[in-house]
Amino acid sequence: MIRELVQSLPLFVLAALCAHAALKPGGMDAIQSGVPWYDQNGRIVSARGAGVIGEGGRHYLFGEFKQDHGNAFVGFACYSSPDLVNWIFESVALPPQPDGRLGPGRVGERPKVMKCPATGEFVMYMHTDDARYRDPAVGYATSPSITGPYTFRGPLLLNGAVVKKWDMSVFQDDDGSGYLITHSGNLYALADDYTSVTRQIVKDMTPGCESPAIFKRDGLYYWLGSGLTAWERNDNYYFTAASLAGPWERQGAFAPEGTLTWNSQTTFVLPVVGSETTTYMFMGDRWAHPRQNSAATYVWQPLRFDAAGKISLPTFHPGWKVNTETGRWSPAESASKIIGIRDSDRLTASENWIRHNDDAGFSDLRSNVKGASLTFAFTGSQIGLYGVARPDGGFGEVRIEDSDGRVVLTSVIETYCRYSEASLKFLSPRLTPGDYTLTVTVLGERFFWQAKRAAYGSTGDYVSVQKFLVVD
Ligand code: GAL
Repeated sequence: MIRELVQSLPLFVLAALCAHAALKPGGMDAIQSGVPWYDQNGRIVSARGAGVIGEGGRHYLFGEFKQDHGNAFVGFACYSSPDLVNWIFESVALPPQPDGRLGPGRVGERPKVMKCPATGEFVMYMHTDDARYRDPAVGYATSPSITGPYTFRGPLLLNGAVVKKWDMSVFQDDDGSGYLITHSGNLYALADDYTSVTRQIVKDMTPGCESPAIFKRDGLYYWLGSGLTAWERNDNYYFTAASLAGPWERQGAFAPEGTLTWNSQTTFVLPVVGSETTTYMFMGDRWAHPRQNSAATYVWQPLRFDAAGKISLPTFHPGWKVNTETGRWSPAESASKIIGIRDSDRLTASENWIRHNDDAGFSDLRSNVKGASLTFAFTGSQIGLYGVARPDGGFGEVRIEDSDGRVVLTSVIETYCRYSEASLKFLSPRLTPGDYTLTVTVLGERFFWQAKRAAYGSTGDYVSVQKFLVVD
């Protein structure tokens, strides 16, 4: 059995997990949106379309365990954390199945887990589909323990019929009742054992509205969702209602319009309930097809509420944290110094990097020539890289080497955005203090996706370097 499981795991899962000795994963002190995250082994935290549940004083993150260069289901990953900042890889909680709805070449997305109060069982729900998204169904899997392994049970049924929906999520109300939410404004009540649907409560409330998420605060229900642009970003919006059955009132965008939800798509809202207050954490995905494993990032932000209960994300917090004891959040303080590209005598660039000043007032070095590289030498315990993302941005490789030329870490960044935006694109795990180099290399690749009769993505392969962040 174990042997079978091992054989079915993708190669990158089995690759040796021997992190370079200079890497000190686990010492991060802030939730950093828009940069790759690393687990205890220095590997990418790959949990897209995720949800989080609390259990036994820890938070558990479940999401799509992605691969680069392919959209087929390679499993749902489970990570755990004491602080919502540092994530421990626990397991591939549900691996690809030998056949059926999550079999070879199929699609599996948006896993969400709830603990059933009636049975004590953990139930995972997900979107299953064929490679062309023409056979959608909501499936479920169960496990006696939170980290799995989960057993795939097939599609969820309503009166014996398969729930043929794609984007989905779940919601557990205060009384323990469980609900399934899907795209286009559909809401269903789950049976007491959480393994079937008993009735539909809301039907086709709003056309489109993908990546749905429901949460409740002070007796008011919130329903968030995205526009229908596949993995491209758009201005997500929300509805509120005093009862799950509605009426649901449309409230509009919750991030400033034009920011495209700070370049993300909703996946979940986590109430971090503390002794003093509750922080409601918006969780979004910044997809990066076809580099969904290495270059996709998380956009997790604290939601604000006004006196009337309206939500917003008025500013982008690149680094912040939430005290899981008290429930209070605060911006992260940083002991870093910022080094611009103009004042750095520690920077060497190959040909083909051009100084660029754009209409938005940003100045950077950029290149779209595959293989062009730029190296920055630094002394410290952590390195970050800022870039300017633009509509013609592409993927770049980031490599850290120690003073003996040994590779400490390689990672992939993306500097694509449908408007010009400058922010942190890479932040290393903690390093043993010392001398290192950071090299950025243009990969000559870009975000693209063709689906639902439309094409999305970048118009170019430019990688941008704006400045560096160094922690002593
Ligand atoms: C999005 C959806 C994602 C994925 C993608 C594929 O609209 O939210 O989960 O299915 O489409 O095009």
